[in-house]
Amino acid sequence: MTTNYFNPVQSVYGPGALLRLPGLLAGRKAALVTFPEARAIGLLDRLEAVLGDSLACVIDQVRPNPDVAELAATWEGFWRQCAQVEVVIAVGGGSAIDTAKALMVGNDSGSFSDMINALAGDVPFRPTRFKTLIAVPTTAGTGSEVTPWATIWDREQQKKYSLHLRETWPAYAVIDPELMLSLPASVTLQSGLDALSHALESIWNVNANPVSDTFAIAAVRETMEVLPQLMRQLDDIGLRGRMALAALKAGMAFSNTKTALAHSISYEMTLRYGLPHGIACSFPLPMVLERAIGKDAGRDAVLAQALGVPLVQAPRLLAQFIEGLGVNTRFADYGVGEEEARAMLLHAQQGARGKNFIGAATAESTT
Ligand SMILES: NC(=O)c1ccc[n+]([C@@H]2O[C@H](COP(=O)([O-])OP(=O)(O)OC[C@H]3O[C@@H](n4cnc5c(N)ncnc54)[C@H](O)[C@@H]3O)[C@@H](O)[C@H]2O)c1
Ligand SMILES: [Fe+2]
Repeated sequence: MTTNYFNPVQSVYGPGALLRLPGLLAGRKAALVTFPEARAIGLLDRLEAVLGDSLACVIDQVRPNPDVAELAATWEGFWRQCAQVEVVIAVGGGSAIDTAKALMVGNDSGSFSDMINALAGDVPFRPTRFKTLIAVPTTAGTGSEVTPWATIWDREQQKKYSLHLRETWPAYAVIDPELMLSLPASVTLQSGLDALSHALESIWNVNANPVSDTFAIAAVRETMEVLPQLMRQLDDIGLRGRMALAALKAGMAFSNTKTALAHSISYEMTLRYGLPHGIACSFPLPMVLERAIGKDAGRDAVLAQALGVPLVQAPRLLAQFIEGLGVNTRFADYGVGEEEARAMLLHAQQGARGKNFIGAATAESTT
């Protein structure tokens, strides 16, 4: 059997990587998409200084989990006021990068509802105008800097959409761990666990290949080693750098496989219970691991290599690891009863991401 691995993003990694932005722009005008706290923590001033006259447009009010209600006005404003720029620079967590992926594709009508109608109806959105994306993550977790998809939420309709176009791959990922030093403990934990989830989900995945496995094994091992240390020393640039690299590798892994059952569960938990993405997609990991073991000998071998213990011990070890970081691992801990959890699991298995799971057949006990 032959396999195929593809990732077109050029990654620039290391402390101080931010200073590479002017070179990457090469004289082109840019719009900056970032999060509201960027001004208060001095990041926006720094970006303005680094980018100088290249910076033509700033969108700095991107809040967590981009929602269609807010995105509509931002998108239409972007295509009215920033249409002249060639490049969009997203500086922030997954929310800022995913917002930029939605902004970078435009259509002739100038109406955002075309995009949402297409996403909701599962028909492709066919943009006619495009920008180039430079993704600069300030969290270490989502991997959005090396994937082509954006998660867009619709809280009113209780839905999650995935925007995925050939044009929404970033051209560059600029990963500067210095930008992560200001990240609070809560988001450091959430995003670190998101990276762990991406790596494991790419292993128990029908789309896994030897290259994605190589990235995933490294990402699981490094995240499990580094994240607990980082939570004790948030201002350690060396640990920030190692976690950023682990998240990048997890991103490289799932950029080719997409996610699987844990993420499919997470969308319901975020929409119904308001759980932050990184918690919602990591608390079910031991439960999903139990269901993955024994489904495929090849996948078992890769899981054993990633987790570094005999698989019979692995679900317990993974639960202890996640609980040791203060995150409960059972549905009941989040107020979800046995019946609702069973129904949620069944629904998650039938979702697009759930179908990527190697053991996507049965819903068993959920505790
Ligand atoms: N596209 C993908 O492949 C992908 C993958 C996983 C998750 N996601 C999406 O990404 C989002 C989660 O992203 P996230 O975990 O990176 O968090 P986030 O972008 O939602 O940010 C969380 C909070 O941290 C703040 N913040 C970010 N960086 C900071 C910094 N350096 N200093 C201080 N504050 C900072 C933000 O303003 C926000 O309040 C979710 O919407 C999720 O669905 C997308
Ligand atoms: Fe995720």
